[in-house]
Amino acid sequence: VNVLVLHGPNLNRLGKREKAIYGQTTLDAINERLIQKGQEWGLRVACYQSNIEGELIDRIHHAEGKYDYIVFNPGAYTHYSYALRDAIAAVDVPVIEVHLSNIHARESFRHTSVTAPVSRGQIMGFGALSYELALAAIREMASPNMD
Ligand code: DQA
Repeated sequence: VNVLVLHGPNLNRLGKREKAIYGQTTLDAINERLIQKGQEWGLRVACYQSNIEGELIDRIHHAEGKYDYIVFNPGAYTHYSYALRDAIAAVDVPVIEVHLSNIHARESFRHTSVTAPVSRGQIMGFGALSYELALAAIREMASPNMD
């Protein structure tokens, strides 16, 4: 099972930016942990971050046929990027949307996700653990223990 973890804008600043909201953990540390968890769980995890909308769109397009799932934190694009929403809808790869923070507990402009309706599911509010929970969902979907 191949998993692409996609991080959107400003997430390269994790561990330095607004620590009270996003935590101390750096993006590199998150990625290392996901790769390691993936190895334990039989998932091959690749990670990519971009601050550029078009690059994220290209990665989503190129994921088709290569990846079984995408774990995606679109950052602020979540709230307004119809182009990313359309990219998710345009490929046959299920996307799990992830946020470190609980976007519903924050400013009202963050309450909307234009990407969630075309995603398989959404996990938020658990800091870096949100990503790991998404990976756990993939593991479970790939070889179900519960139904
Ligand atoms: C975020 C939430 C967004 O509102 C914000 O713009 C981010 C990070 C999160 O992971 O909590 O950049 O996606």
